[in-house]
Amino acid sequence: MTENLLFHGDALDLAPFALCRWPSRRAQLAYLDPPFAVGVAFGARTQPTETRAQGGSTSGPVAYDDRWPSLEAYLAWLSPRVAAARDLLANDGSLWLHLDHRAVHDAKLVCDGIFGAPCFAGEIIWMPGNGAKGRNGPGMTHQTILIYGKGRSFVWNASDPALREPYAKTSLAMHFRNTDEGGRAYRDRTVGRKTYRYYADEGRALGSVWSDCPSMVANTPLRRETTGYPTQKPRKLLDRIVRATTEPGALVIDPFCGSGTTLEAAALLGRVFLGGDIGDLAMATTTKRLETAGVAFERARRSPPHAAEVTPRAL
Ligand SMILES: C[S@@+](CC[C@H](N)C(=O)[O-])C[C@H]1O[C@@H](n2cnc3c(N)ncnc32)[C@H](O)[C@@H]1O
Repeated sequence: MTENLLFHGDALDLAPFALCRWPSRRAQLAYLDPPFAVGVAFGARTQPTETRAQGGSTSGPVAYDDRWPSLEAYLAWLSPRVAAARDLLANDGSLWLHLDHRAVHDAKLVCDGIFGAPCFAGEIIWMPGNGAKGRNGPGMTHQTILIYGKGRSFVWNASDPALREPYAKTSLAMHFRNTDEGGRAYRDRTVGRKTYRYYADEGRALGSVWSDCPSMVANTPLRRETTGYPTQKPRKLLDRIVRATTEPGALVIDPFCGSGTTLEAAALLGRVFLGGDIGDLAMATTTKRLETAGVAFERARRSPPHAAEVTPRAL
């Protein structure tokens, strides 16, 4: 018997579905990686050499359409879906909204309106490591993940090794000159009247710029992790977010799950997932991926059209 659920449908319908299924269960993490308003249709890679994002034409099957009449139309589409995900959060939960420079600043204002500006907890600058392409200005080599707490504090497992990074070599040489009886290098720092001990092998707290989760791992043919689904995020990135913000057994939701990266990470880390996506290819890719990983899950389908709205498909 599994609690993991994969929902085939609009992100807007995920909350009513979940609340009906689990009237009192709430999520500690909602990770949202929606279309970014890039202005292209994304196709899947069916051959190792195929390009995945082209201006409306793709050689592989179209995974999802990310063309919008305007930024306003995009934000009007995004806003209720963020609000629906917020409805599923526990009081100690957080929502991570992954976007890029095209819409993130406007989306921040939208999210401030949904959560209340004091619930904004900061942002992660994720550097996929793909190299710069800009000819008419600086190439954008980062994406931004906005973080909101449902309340003013949320689960943050600061001492998890996934949130540590090695000290710089110079820092190790300059400061970690002592060794304890077990042979571990350390330094003591006294602040006020209290002395704190830091061990070299524990590393230092990771900051908000993450450059050590390369996208290539998830988007290069022949890499085991790559599914061929466009804009697939690396497992290391989602492992870190899940480990940072949830306890074992907690519910993790991802209403735009694409190839299922968050769901695989959550399940293999002992969390329960509720994932959803509107696309057929996303469903097929996620299903195959989870089955290959030996993850048990149930499937549910509900996709009534939200016809009154502007969506990419209405173009
Ligand atoms: C950037 S991709 C997600 C990639 C995913 N994080 C991964 O690692 O594979 C965005 C996804 O949003 C899905 N999507 C677009 N509109 C949607 C909607 N209204 N409801 C649910 N999913 C939607 C697309 O099908 C696409 O799979």
